[in-house]
Amino acid sequence: MAKWVRACHIDDFRTGYLFRHKRREYAIFKLEDGVYCLDNVCSHEYSPLAEGMVLDGDVFCPKHGSRFDVRTGAVKDYPATRPVRTFETRVEENGDIYIQVR
Ligand code: FES
Repeated sequence: MAKWVRACHIDDFRTGYLFRHKRREYAIFKLEDGVYCLDNVCSHEYSPLAEGMVLDGDVFCPKHGSRFDVRTGAVKDYPATRPVRTFETRVEENGDIYIQVR
């Protein structure tokens, strides 16, 4: 069952933020149009996407450079071939960021 969990505050990070909750890792990204959340684990091999470079709404995996759309999780460049999972986000008026975990 899905539930909302507070992950961090909007001022806690600049671009990418790693959030751990119940043995799962979430990569939270701040873009010009909002806050997005992906599974932190690259779909190619294990590598933390929260540490990847973000450019024009895409995150580059720090290990082999696969590119994922931060908004949709879609793969935009190899070697990964599978998308990464996305999670709903919500930013409260006070700047607290919540993600919907499953
Ligand atoms: S682990 Fe991400 S591209 Fe290889």
